[in-house]
Amino acid sequence: MADLKVNIAGVEWKNPVTTGSGTFGFGREYAEYFDLSELGAVCLKALSAKPRLGNKSPRIAETNDGILNSVGLQNPGAEHFLENELEWLRKFDTKLIANLCGSTVEDYVEVAEMLGDKLDMLELNISCPNVKVGGMAFGTDPKMVEEVTSKVKAVAKAPLIVKLSPNVTDIAEIAKAAEAGGADALSLINTLLGMKIDIKTRRPVLNNNTGGLSGPAVMPVAVRMVHRVRQAVKLPIIGMGGIASGEDAIEFLLAGADAVAVGTAGIVDPYAWIKVRNGINDYLDQNGYKSVKEIVGKLELN
Ligand SMILES: Cc1cc2nc3c(=O)[nH]c(=O)nc-3n(C[C@H](O)[C@H](O)[C@H](O)COP(=O)(O)O)c2cc1C
Repeated sequence: MADLKVNIAGVEWKNPVTTGSGTFGFGREYAEYFDLSELGAVCLKALSAKPRLGNKSPRIAETNDGILNSVGLQNPGAEHFLENELEWLRKFDTKLIANLCGSTVEDYVEVAEMLGDKLDMLELNISCPNVKVGGMAFGTDPKMVEEVTSKVKAVAKAPLIVKLSPNVTDIAEIAKAAEAGGADALSLINTLLGMKIDIKTRRPVLNNNTGGLSGPAVMPVAVRMVHRVRQAVKLPIIGMGGIASGEDAIEFLLAGADAVAVGTAGIVDPYAWIKVRNGINDYLDQNGYKSVKEIVGKLELN
């Protein structure tokens, strides 16, 4: 058994596997399948200062090798989370990451302040493609990325991860802006903007018209972006996008991710997270590595 421990911005995870925000709820459904203590960290669904209803359905559309979603950050609000979910989650021996969303810079600051020091890490979601204001509008403009990162960092009582959007020309520029704003770590990628059309009605399948693509279809894009960001900044990276097996996760680690998140694969198979963790361990054992840290960034270019 290899040493799977990783250190992300000073927070030690027992293994490098976490959940993609929004694909794991607050963990209750999945706790019926496995012990959440098996995960390095649990990244929770987006939280805003006030409850949000999200977008109208249909909000999910299947595509070849992926799904499009336009859920739109539906959540019960930070206060409800603190009162009803946190105590239950704290029973598990895993790190907890809150995913923060908002429509204005002040919204992001407010939710960070509300959560205080009650979570192990905070993830700033400035990359959601499914809301009209906030979300991706912040995450695609380097000046806004730096501003919102520094304002949230000023009040954050836990290490701050900034989650990057792939819907940009050069993700390295955005990564550098987050670093300049004081980010402690980066996570990438959020979903890729897409559209699916029902040819019978000649209308988009999603009520929101467009949505975010995730699942195996996006993985090569995500691996390339992790590699690009690894060249640009020194911050720890949590890589994600289409990971469904240990082999997939190893690609991200070799490209320079320090840890990985699994999202859409868990919708198909509720044990996906455990399979990915075990698969990483198998690869390390079979190839004579003693620690997962030995393979991070060990990609050799042609
Ligand atoms: C149904 C759904 C809801 C999501 N909700 C959020 C969210 O609330 N906050 C966020 O930062 N990312 C959200 N995401 C993006 C995922 O966390 C992840 O970045 C993306 O799906 C790529 O990983 P995957 O291919 O393993 O799912 C969501 C993705 C899906 C499929």
